[in-house]
Amino acid sequence: GYDISKLLKETGNTTVDIGFVNTASCNSAITYIDGDAGILRYRGYPIEQLAEKSSFLEVSYLLIYGELPTTEQLEDFDQKIRRHTLLHEDLKAFFGGFPRDAHPMPVLSSAVSALGTFYQDSLDPFDKEQVEISTVRLMAKLPTIAAYAYKKSVGQPFLYPDNSLSLPENFLRMTFGFPAEPYDLDPDMVKALDLLLILHADHEQNCSTSTVRLVGSAQANLFNSVSAGIHALSGPLHGGANSAVLEMLGGIYDNGGDVDTFVKKVKNKEDGVKLMGFGHRVYKNYDPRAAIIKKSADTILNKDGVSDPLLDIALKLEQVALEDDYFVERKLYPNVDFYTGLIYKAMGFPTKMFTVLFALGRLPGWIAQWREMIEDPQTKIGRPRQIYVGETERDYTPISSR
Ligand code: ACO
Repeated sequence: GYDISKLLKETGNTTVDIGFVNTASCNSAITYIDGDAGILRYRGYPIEQLAEKSSFLEVSYLLIYGELPTTEQLEDFDQKIRRHTLLHEDLKAFFGGFPRDAHPMPVLSSAVSALGTFYQDSLDPFDKEQVEISTVRLMAKLPTIAAYAYKKSVGQPFLYPDNSLSLPENFLRMTFGFPAEPYDLDPDMVKALDLLLILHADHEQNCSTSTVRLVGSAQANLFNSVSAGIHALSGPLHGGANSAVLEMLGGIYDNGGDVDTFVKKVKNKEDGVKLMGFGHRVYKNYDPRAAIIKKSADTILNKDGVSDPLLDIALKLEQVALEDDYFVERKLYPNVDFYTGLIYKAMGFPTKMFTVLFALGRLPGWIAQWREMIEDPQTKIGRPRQIYVGETERDYTPISSR
């Protein structure tokens, strides 16, 4: 009902782009996506090659520093991270302040912003050494924080990190192990977790990354910027979709596994029901990450010969959707979240932890993007304009005459 030409005249050359569908906020040399072709590359390397040949630690180095590391560089990065996995004992006490059933995402985000209070001498965004130590601290401590958020939610004792272990191994042990008890690492689990972390490591200017950059553009420190990104990620339209998918599959299963009725509901947009884990702002083709996950899911999903009935529902849903005009016309394909929840569940993670795992994977991307933004001389504080559509000027009326 607005007179657009009048509004434009009033606001000069301001363009409206709700949801930033067609507006680039920055130049970036980190991640390339061709959404029509289903292509994803980190620093030029195809995601398929990184998934097959690299490790999460190496991919983190690549994203943050721009090149694949040499053996010495990777060893040095690994050693630094292993040295910083411990949390300050006072930060450990912080977890006690949350209710017993606290969702681990806000716990994660709060603990990350609290980290900054322990390192007040290294918060200057323009001091390269301080940014470097903050990078290492975040990479090293987020798995510990994530594991403690989990332990808190199940009422189990915390485990100190074991720095003889790699990042994914340490995280699995701190999550599922018990103090003073040996924990047998399952190589299939370690490999699956490492792969999932690689696939989530960056995705250019998505909602949480744009949040990290926007908060950082005000020269807020790395901890606060990443903490804000974790909050953005928690939403069901973003990282929260991985748990929403599992809830959706569980709901269909509880209703007798009737996929067709559910799809009909989605198509009729009944009660705003969506096919969670489908659709993407940029991909108008199969999400390459979903393709990799689906291909490698068998090892975990069929471990010990036990298969999850929710996988059958997911496969059927995908098949129905890929052949249905509603989804075909709108170019809705499975995104990264469609199959990840099933794998996390098979690994023993409760639904509440799924988005925390996404955050662990996305951390190097957030750090790389924040550093690129801070180092870019073109960066200005992010400050979008608006088209004002409220009341025109009017006189104040005393409360007695309203
Ligand atoms: N189920 C049913 N219909 C859908 C879905 C879906 N999952 N996604 C989009 N649509 C429909 C919309 O209703 C719209 O239909 P219309 O033209 O009849 O109005 C059309 O497809 C276009 O969708 P938009 O909402 O305009 O697409 P947008 O780019 O704004 O949203 C998003 C992208 C948020 C990912 C959306 O597809 C969605 O909500 N998907 C489900 C949640 C999800 O899986 N999120 C994870 C994204 S990936 C990630 O963060 C890792």
